[in-house]
Formats: sequence, structure tokens, C-alpha cells
Amino acid sequence: MKRIVVVGTQWGDEGKGKITDYLAQRADVVCRYQGGNNAGHTVVFNGQKHSLHLLPSGILNPDILNVMANGMVINPKAFVEEASKIKTPFKLAISNRAHVVLPFHSELDKAYESTKAHKIGTTHKGIGPAYTDKSARIGMRVSTFIHPIRFKEKLEELVLLKNEELLSYGFNLLDSKAIYDEYLIYAKEMKPYVCDTSIVLNEAINEDKKILFEGAQGVLLCLDHGTYPYVTSSSPTASSVPLNTGIAPWLVDGAIGVTKAYTTRVGEGPMPSEILGELASNIRIKGNEFGTTTGRPRRIGWLDTVILKHTKRVSGLSYLAVTLLDVLSGIDELNIVTSYQFEGEEIDYIPAEIDDFAACKPNIIKMPGWTEDITQVTSFDELPKHAKAYLKKLEELVGVPIAIFSVGPDRNQTIMVKDIF
Ligand code: GDP
Ligand code: IMO
Ligand code: MG
Repeated sequence: MKRIVVVGTQWGDEGKGKITDYLAQRADVVCRYQGGNNAGHTVVFNGQKHSLHLLPSGILNPDILNVMANGMVINPKAFVEEASKIKTPFKLAISNRAHVVLPFHSELDKAYESTKAHKIGTTHKGIGPAYTDKSARIGMRVSTFIHPIRFKEKLEELVLLKNEELLSYGFNLLDSKAIYDEYLIYAKEMKPYVCDTSIVLNEAINEDKKILFEGAQGVLLCLDHGTYPYVTSSSPTASSVPLNTGIAPWLVDGAIGVTKAYTTRVGEGPMPSEILGELASNIRIKGNEFGTTTGRPRRIGWLDTVILKHTKRVSGLSYLAVTLLDVLSGIDELNIVTSYQFEGEEIDYIPAEIDDFAACKPNIIKMPGWTEDITQVTSFDELPKHAKAYLKKLEELVGVPIAIFSVGPDRNQTIMVKDIF
């Protein structure tokens, strides 16, 4: 495959950054296609850890072209801060059709959450409000943002509108002049990278270049196919790539679904496989399960194959990359969720209505655990017998072959069992 989508198969934080960075060693282009700095992608190599939020995970490789496509929402301040931390030269193209996240978006994100009886638990990065403006056709494209006069006019119009809303929530009003003066500097910094990235990507495809499309979040957080309303405001699915990047659907060769060996979730909403108590706390500590973006402790659950089958169906998955397998070492017995019990029936799909999903009780099978430390393993054959069986069972239940598994955060702790790229 020459053009692969890296998709999060669960509720985000599956290790997409790590798998993208690993595969990027063979890529020409890495393209982020949706979301904004609600994402937090961790890349570890040469003993150094990098947390990326907006920049694609190929940014640390000077030979790769990185693209921030039209489906993204970009906070210019966060962009400039993040870019300034990259100390090696990089190649970057930012879509002129991506939308800009401005200070009132994050304020409104907080305002909406503050009045909700059932909070989503957003990252407060203004992602929902920015995508709302895009759909309402009042948002600001990057092309407008980098044009000083058009930016000023549009900003004044928006601040007037948003201040009325902020006032109704009892939030402080914003000053468009102050925002303009500050953000004009960011616009100047962004401008050299801005172009029509659909043209760039299609040219790369014509030249037979290898491209990775790096998803943010996970399919269960998809606005359409996720556990609505506890979702983000974009679509992390592989099927959203053509729309979000400006390429034809048939130019995508396949998708690699990044799957934690268990399940995690940050934020609110039902999670049938959730584990509470000491075991969850041990996994959280061993897997360092604290949000890369907000630092919030992640909720922990057993591997849920109903979710993975859902992702396979709605997004398409050619292969799986299973991460954090090392974290399960030392647990006597592992549970895998195979179906749900709902209104007296066994189901293997996710009900659309969130209260119905909350009512689903997991049906599980038990697998024997292993005690060995597997962080130095370099092949499938070296894995303990029960770890092999666990991966085989996962493959069998989901019906997607595993191409990669990972036994630690470092780039070197990644094992490719099938050459796919
Ligand atoms: P992303 O949002 O999907 O890119 O994932 P995050 O970076 O937010 O979260 C994944 C976390 O797991 C990061 O801290 C990674 O460094 C870490 N990680 C990734 N793969 C492995 C693995 O195989 N084992 C362990 N122990 N940690 C891993
Ligand atoms: P990466 O790319 C995990 C969650 C938030 C919240 C919901 C909506 O690192 O996997 P938002 O701020 O997007 O409106 O929040 O989505 N969320 C994530 N959870 N990983 C992410 O990104 C997430 N991005 C958003 O916690 O529940
Ligand atoms: Mg993350």
C-alpha cells in the first residue's frame, strides 16, 4: 500500500503518533486530516519524547513533507508555540481552506460545557465551536486569516457576534483590537506555509509518493459514527480522508487501525468495558494513562471487540497495529468483551441512542495472562505463549490481521509482522 490512513479505533490515544512516526520512516508525506489541538500525539525516539498537537507526526523528520489539510481546525497561537519547539528543519504545507480557532471558540467551549447537565468533558480547546462556525458558514478560513485586511473585518464581525453569546453566559467580553494585534503576528508566521494542499497531495500522488494520513481522536469520537453526543466535532474515520484532504476516494489504498491492547477513554460518556478500582489504577500507572493534552487521568477498560468491529465497518480497516501490549504483563487473567447484553438480548453492535449504549452490559471471554516483561521482544515468536494467544484471539474476533504490535513507547519497541507500506 502506498497511501495509508492511520486511524484510532477506540476513543483516542491509541498510539497513532507512535505508529505514524514508525511508518513515516518509509513515507514521503504525512498529512493530518481533521481535528485540532485537542489531539495529543506522542512520539519517542533517541531517548526523547515529543508531544505533538497540531503538527503531523512526520515533523521531526526533515525529509518528509508534512501537510495540515483542509479538514483541520488550527489555533494559530498553539501552532506558533508548537512549531517553535521543533529544533530541526521541517517541511510543512498548511491548507488555505482549513479553519482557524480563535480565542472566543475556547471561551464558548467552556461556556457551553459549564451549563450542560451532562458534560462531554471536552478539552476546552474550542474545537466544537470552531467546527460549528464552519458548518454555519461564518467561520474563518486560513486564507482569510493571513490577509490582514480581510482578517480584521471578519474578526470584528465575529467578535461582535460572539460577545453577545459570551455575555449571555456571564463570561468576559473579548476585545477584537487586542486579538487582532496579537494574532496578526501569528498570521505572518503561518503565511509562508499556506497553500492549496489538495494540489500538493494530488501532485505527490501523481509522482507515486508514499503518503500517511494521520487521524486524530478515534472512531468512537466521530461526530457521525461515534458515541454521540460524547464525541468530538470531526470525523476520524478513514472514509473522511478524501473530503478532508481534497483527493479522490479511490486514491486511498487502505487503513491501519491503531488499537490499544485494552481500552481507554478521557472525558465523559458510557464505556461498557470500564474497569474500576485497583486494577484500573495499576494499568493507568503502568501505561502512563494521563491525557497528553489535558493531563486528565484516562478511564481504563478491557479490550472491547464490539467497538473494534464497529470501527472496522464504519471506517474500514485493512490491518491492525496493536499498542501497549507490554502494559498487560503481570495480570493473571485478561477479559475481552465479545458482545453486549441489551434488553435481554445479545447484540454485537453499538446502539445509536446513548442511553441504550449506557444500558449495555459486556459479555466477556477470559484469556490467561502472562508474567514476563515483553518490552525487549523483537518478534512475534519471542512473545510468551499467552501473549501470542491474546493477539491471535483479537485478530480472530475482529476479523482484521495484525500488521504491527508495540511493546513500549519507543520507536524501537515496534514490531512489524507484515510488511504493509
Ligand atoms: P495518540 O493520541 O493516539 O497518538 O496516543 P497518545 O500519544 O496520546 O497516547 C499513547 C501513549 O502510549 C503515549 O504516552 C505513548 O508514548 C504510549 N505508547 C505508545 N505505544 C506504547 C506501547 O506499546 N507501550 C507503552 N508502554 N506505551 C506506549
Ligand atoms: P488524540 O488525537 C482522546 C475527547 C475529549 C472529549 C471529547 C470531545 O490524542 O487521540 P473536544 O475537545 O474534541 O470537543 O472533546 O473528545 N477527545 C480526545 N480523547 N484523545 C484525543 O485525541 C481526543 N480529542 C478529543 O476528551 O471527551
Ligand atoms: Mg492522544
